[in-house]
Amino acid sequence: MQNNFEHSVKKIMSLKEFKKKILCIGAGYVGGPTMTVIANKCPEYKVTVVDISKPRIDAWNSEELPIYEIGLKERVLSSRGKNLFFSTDVDKEIEEADIIFVAVHTPTKTFGEGAGRAADLQFIEKTARRIKAVARTPKIVVEKSTLPVRAAETLATILHSGEHEVRFEILSNPEFMAEGTAIQDMEHPDRILIGYNESESGRLARDELMNVYLNWVPREKLITTNLWSSELSKLVSNAFLAQRISSINSIAALCEETEADVVEVANAVGKDSRIGSKFLRAGVGFGGSCFRKDILHLAYLCEYYGLIEVARFWEQVVTLNDYQIGRFVKQILQAMFNTLVGKKIALFGYAFKPDTSDTRDAPAGYICHHLLKEKAKLSIVDPYALDNARTELPGDEGIEFEKDPYKAIQGAHAIALVTEWDCFRDLDYKRIFSEMEKPAFIFDGRNLLNHQALFDIGFNVYAVGKPPRSHL
Ligand code: UGA
Repeated sequence: MQNNFEHSVKKIMSLKEFKKKILCIGAGYVGGPTMTVIANKCPEYKVTVVDISKPRIDAWNSEELPIYEIGLKERVLSSRGKNLFFSTDVDKEIEEADIIFVAVHTPTKTFGEGAGRAADLQFIEKTARRIKAVARTPKIVVEKSTLPVRAAETLATILHSGEHEVRFEILSNPEFMAEGTAIQDMEHPDRILIGYNESESGRLARDELMNVYLNWVPREKLITTNLWSSELSKLVSNAFLAQRISSINSIAALCEETEADVVEVANAVGKDSRIGSKFLRAGVGFGGSCFRKDILHLAYLCEYYGLIEVARFWEQVVTLNDYQIGRFVKQILQAMFNTLVGKKIALFGYAFKPDTSDTRDAPAGYICHHLLKEKAKLSIVDPYALDNARTELPGDEGIEFEKDPYKAIQGAHAIALVTEWDCFRDLDYKRIFSEMEKPAFIFDGRNLLNHQALFDIGFNVYAVGKPPRSHL
């Protein structure tokens, strides 16, 4: 009894001692890991993450976190209950917070004006209205979600509308972390970008947020800009990254026609320090929740401002990505004698990239749909993404979900490698070959495997941007 009492008093004391209270609205892929690192690095700040989804918050409070990220669980466990909290009590937490990060979903609009391209801002607007309704003291509101340029203006208008007397200062602080490396990216960022309003209160808010990051990020990595530059920089960073992938994928198509090797070309080109070597891996195309959405969104903005040629330029990055996915399926079909009816294809990987269970906009989804249209049978293998795959694919009899690649390939005519999980690299391909139908095919959509060794075993090997190695 006494101990419990002492524990509660200590807890209350420690809550009182917190320098500031940070709140994040949205406990997803961005909010969860970002706030975990802030809590780890800033023990004197109280960090709370809220979400309206109770199951999601329950999961953050349990041993089974709702997302998988390398190093995330240890970090959550080290701060949870001390200065990191997960809650569904949105209103109470808004009231108490000094700094509110908004990390809610901004998907592509599926209806009305701009459907399929513009950002759906309903969740962000609802959040702003909630903050306005509840807040009684001044707050710094930080845009973490990816938003259209000048969204901060809309946010400020909503927050300051009506009779409300509370002042809000809006900052833009876009997220640049990538899934699978979220913790590493957050702990050792290339840069932290803070957009602010050029006014006295704007500068104070900027400094307040800089002080959070200065707990672990060197000063020279903190970049401050005006609000609109910051918002636009997020979209442009993703657009440039995706554009590099589409560029190298377009060259992969040319390599396949000319017997050049795209890996060699990318290596030679990337050695130019002005170009750089990253994001030049040809593959089945980019996936993930951001690239397609952000580019379409950028194109939509350009169109809105009458910049039609600029919009078309960026849209081409997405068109090329769709082309690349289609080309992969076409290659499978053509190599396998133009019919896949009843043939079993083991799909190695379903996540949009390795080290994540995320399957949003994954090339694998499109590839599966195309292959099913050709009446192929699929056996899908993935170390972490099978649950998502199950919910996304039709409950069709032609699909099996397998954790064990050796089971998935039993009686298969082909393997299509779509996600470059390390575990696929070191399999016993001699054994696999012996248990497959002949002729056996491998389509390496990520250039992960040793193609000559596979060819020597007896496989017909097709890899992105490389001449085929076929025994036929
Ligand atoms: C991307 C950006 O890299 C992050 O900086 C950004 O913060 C994030 O979007 C976001 O806006 O939330 P993410 O989508 O998690 O991160 O993953 P990436 O590592 O960028 O990969 C995206 C896709 O491109 C994957 O499907 C990957 O397989 C593909 N890719 C990547 C290639 O096909 N080739 C490459 O050379 C690199």
